[in-house]
Amino acid sequence: MNTKRILQVQNISKTYGKGSSSTTALSGISFDVLEGEFLGIMGASGSGKTTLLNCIATMLKPTSGKILLDGEDISAFKGKALANYRGNKIGYLYQSFELLDNLTARENIILPLSLHGVKNADAEQALLPLAGHLDITEVLDKFPGQMSGGQKQRVAAARAFISAPSIVLADEPTGALDSKNAKTLLDKLSSLNRQEQKTIVMVTHDANAASFCSRVLFIQDGTIFHELRKSTKNEPPTMFYERIMAVIAQLGGGSANVL
Ligand SMILES: Nc1ncnc2c1ncn2[C@@H]1O[C@H](COP(=O)(O)OP(=O)(O)OP(=O)(O)O)[C@@H](O)[C@H]1O
Ligand SMILES: [Mg+2]
Repeated sequence: MNTKRILQVQNISKTYGKGSSSTTALSGISFDVLEGEFLGIMGASGSGKTTLLNCIATMLKPTSGKILLDGEDISAFKGKALANYRGNKIGYLYQSFELLDNLTARENIILPLSLHGVKNADAEQALLPLAGHLDITEVLDKFPGQMSGGQKQRVAAARAFISAPSIVLADEPTGALDSKNAKTLLDKLSSLNRQEQKTIVMVTHDANAASFCSRVLFIQDGTIFHELRKSTKNEPPTMFYERIMAVIAQLGGGSANVL
């Protein structure tokens, strides 16, 4: 079992604004992500999940605490090192796809590589196996307006993985998908994780989505209040789902109250 700590979140707090109108979104959250993990983060709306991912992505600066990737303090990155971190070390998958409408799927996916000066032939070599894996080979020359929601999100996933980042951050990636397309995406993410050892951190409200993860953190009021992990690598999502639902039930009320 791989025990390399790829990401270390150490006592992160984040307060937006100042004085009486301030909001504390994170209050002293700490956890590690091991290389090859598929980590789920569940929590109610407003519990700080997006804030946490944005701090890891360096889109937001924590008020206090430290985040290390591969042992390096990400707040120390400046200039080229920061651009390299954002462009190559981290992949980001959004709920709303965020594809550029006037670029084809292929162009959208390789954009992060093009921006870093990778030649088209090399980009194509990285693209083709990923497109096959995500079942989007047929739509590579289509524009987003010509694709289904499920296809758009799998194209966005390919863009998140194309530069072989150390970690992919996904914020409610199934939130805009119907249940069939959600399951397809989760199956693909899960197999990229298991077969290619991709490290993924996924925020979700959905116990079903979380059941594809290898470990789930539950956050409330900006701090972790529970953690569940798959008993074995091969525990099926259906069994893990039951355990996730049991935690939610124990915490009082249905998922609507807690998450
Ligand atoms: N730019 C901002 N300025 C002020 N407050 C903010 C800002 N962004 C988020 N907040 C507040 O911080 C808290 C955490 O927000 P965050 O977006 O991280 O929650 P979330 O867990 O992602 O919620 P959701 O599930 O609805 O996406 C909320 O109370 C929110 O109102
Ligand atoms: Mg959010």
